[in-house]
Amino acid sequence: MPLDVVLGLQWGDEGKGKLVDRLSAAYRCVARFQGGPNAGHTLYRNGVRHVLHQIPSGIFHEEVICVIGNGVIIDPITFYTEITALDGLGVAWRDRLWLSDKAHLILPTHRLLDRLSEDAKGEARIGSTLRGIGPAYVDKYAREGLRLGDLLAADYRHRIESGLQRHLDHLPSELHPPAEDLEAFWAACQCLSQLDIRPVEEALLDWHDAGADILAEGAQGTRLDIDFGDYPFVTSSHTLSASACLGLGLPPQAIRRVLGVFKAYATRVGNGPFPTELHGEQADRLQRLGHEFGSTTGRPRRCGWLDLPLLRQAIRLNGVTHLALTKVDVIAQLPEFQTLGVDGQWHRFGGWNPENDREQLSEPACRFVDFLRLQLGCPVAWVSVSPERDAVHSVADWA
Ligand code: IMP
Repeated sequence: MPLDVVLGLQWGDEGKGKLVDRLSAAYRCVARFQGGPNAGHTLYRNGVRHVLHQIPSGIFHEEVICVIGNGVIIDPITFYTEITALDGLGVAWRDRLWLSDKAHLILPTHRLLDRLSEDAKGEARIGSTLRGIGPAYVDKYAREGLRLGDLLAADYRHRIESGLQRHLDHLPSELHPPAEDLEAFWAACQCLSQLDIRPVEEALLDWHDAGADILAEGAQGTRLDIDFGDYPFVTSSHTLSASACLGLGLPPQAIRRVLGVFKAYATRVGNGPFPTELHGEQADRLQRLGHEFGSTTGRPRRCGWLDLPLLRQAIRLNGVTHLALTKVDVIAQLPEFQTLGVDGQWHRFGGWNPENDREQLSEPACRFVDFLRLQLGCPVAWVSVSPERDAVHSVADWA
């Protein structure tokens, strides 16, 4: 049972990328299993900020194979931008980035259809990242999508042109993509077709049989799951741990551990229910201290207190075995903060100096972590106390 899954327990942006980066070195492979360029996984290395949208957060560890599974959808232009950025950083990715031939493509017209659908909803809009996620998954399940494997066919241009034309027939002409956008898209497709596209489930199953360790990296969060999130204010994929098996081609018994990542407070970008949301000065302060602006869209994130009843439900849905708490340094800076307990009561905590948590967790931080462990009935394995890669304390046994 060599598969560990890292996923978000809230509305995304929990700090999964940083945890995956931190844990990656111990794994043969790090794999993305759902979502697409709507994700934005932020990593800090030597004080420099990197945002990955589609490439697994294990890419900075040069011994680790990074896999993009069949459950992911790929935007060729965004992907091309990401690998070019890796080249700029001198990261050797070429032999160790494998893409599933079954992963679906996002076409430029998917993005336009996404916008059209959101505009039509008016006040009821979801607040999508407008990356074409919904329309691309619609095509997949309507069995009209194009897959990375199509890029390997001799007639791939014809296949994609047919897909584009089908969409253009539904779009008003003023929304048709400009020629230069299409040129950039074709160039990116050409580049993508040169990459290592293969049935990645074969290698994953071989590793599984050989007992090699695989880390599955979730995107978005539990409350954005297409079924178990706040429908319709959700993304278009399954974000739960069970999705790792279907999104990679591994059997359910493969899962060994599930690491549920959550922030010491809550944020949500986009519309939809947020029971513990704050407004006014308190919300602004959390937003400012936590730099709560979307890493994909730059939109300000809505901020609120930690909601343990929702977290408890997320732990049960995902079969979480271990927890990772992030952004403790942000909440500590408040003179006082609150948490909604599993009993439905508010629990108040006084802040502390986050600098005291740098070497090891200070006493007030330990008390807060212990409170969470007892409320949630789950061990807290990791606590992150600053954005830097190494600022993660191991609290309970993970290995
Ligand atoms: P979509 O998946 O881009 O259509 O967006 C659907 C909803 O999920 C919107 O509320 C988005 O803001 C939210 N969302 C999608 N991806 C992410 C993410 O990676 N982090 C946080 N929210 C996300």
